[in-house]
Amino acid sequence: MSDISNLPNSKKIVLKSRPDGDPKVGDFDVIEETAKAPDDGEVLIEVQALGVGAWIRTTLNETAFHGSTPIGGTLPSMGIGKVLISKSDKLKEGDIVSGPLSAQSFATMSGTFFTKVVNPEIDPFTQIGVLGVSTGLTAYFGIYEVGQVKAGDIVLVSGAAGGVGMIACQLAKLKGAKVIGIAGGKEKCEILVNEIGVDAAIDYKNQDIDEQIKLYAKDGIDLFFDNVGGEILDIALDNIRDRARVIICGAISQYSHHDDVDGPSLYLRLAEKYAKMEGFTVMHFKDRYEEAYKELLDLYNQEKLKVPFHIEEGIESFPLALQKLFTGGNTGKLMVKI
Ligand SMILES: NC(=O)c1ccc[n+]([C@@H]2O[C@H](COP(=O)([O-])OP(=O)(O)OC[C@H]3O[C@@H](n4cnc5c(N)ncnc54)[C@H](OP(=O)(O)O)[C@@H]3O)[C@@H](O)[C@H]2O)c1
Repeated sequence: MSDISNLPNSKKIVLKSRPDGDPKVGDFDVIEETAKAPDDGEVLIEVQALGVGAWIRTTLNETAFHGSTPIGGTLPSMGIGKVLISKSDKLKEGDIVSGPLSAQSFATMSGTFFTKVVNPEIDPFTQIGVLGVSTGLTAYFGIYEVGQVKAGDIVLVSGAAGGVGMIACQLAKLKGAKVIGIAGGKEKCEILVNEIGVDAAIDYKNQDIDEQIKLYAKDGIDLFFDNVGGEILDIALDNIRDRARVIICGAISQYSHHDDVDGPSLYLRLAEKYAKMEGFTVMHFKDRYEEAYKELLDLYNQEKLKVPFHIEEGIESFPLALQKLFTGGNTGKLMVKI
């Protein structure tokens, strides 16, 4: 398609009001308008699939690490799409690209924002899941680089049945660690043990987390990969052993009250155990994305890595998908198929 006299209708999800607490469907509107014709340097992209990530919630505040979404602004989201019209030297029509497409069915943006997908034959859900920057690559750098996982380590992962968590569990297992996952509900725990291959799973909604950690790791844990924060972080800190590493990947339990975060009260365990706590964002490793992508692709091709998808259909489902992320309505990487 290179006919700019016949541009498609595009639907986008905009912020209607700043959420009070966790995001709800009513905080957003769906707007339909004709897609904008690309100017010089821009491309018109047909969006194929979008990742729904917890970080989106942090952009709904007035001040935010990832940048604030204004009222009426389109929600941010990373995804995969196909270039329909290109006025950029960097991309051509038909290219499959990944990047910050935002929650919309067609995107007209600068070509410089997007990266051509190296293996366009791989479906968009795998690209966003196992091979995606905010899923597979995040787990890869968190577990291997920040966590320095090694054989024999006892690794505890919170948010273990989510996109990042499931890959973190598998990467740690591949290095010979013993892995304990924490997730909400019996069904998610069964999936973790039976399909993802963790050694044990703790249902934080129905079990005593501290008691269960002590059951599976009586001498304590070597590495805690935290996606949740709050109370779970404190319980994990109370169970670390000497020279443990506590990795702050995220804190989904805190994003809806970002200005009043429940910090860890047991941080002195770090001193007592000569342990360290370290945070990271995947963007700190942007110079090494290619290396991680290759390694994850290799593992995926050898069927050593899997991430179940949770796919919602249609751009209109984006607000509900975001709501689900904060109520545990997803197992595996949550995405919207456009
Ligand atoms: N550092 C980085 O660069 C980076 C990049 C991407 C993502 N992240 C972080 O990684 C984490 C996972 O992100 P994701 O996109 O893969 O999401 P996800 O884990 O697929 O989905 C979020 C899961 O979190 C759990 N959850 C939600 N609210 C909770 C609460 N109050 N307490 C305990 N668990 C809660 C739910 O599972 P349950 O049913 O188990 O409750 C939900 O399914 C997030 O913290 C995110 O910010 C970090």
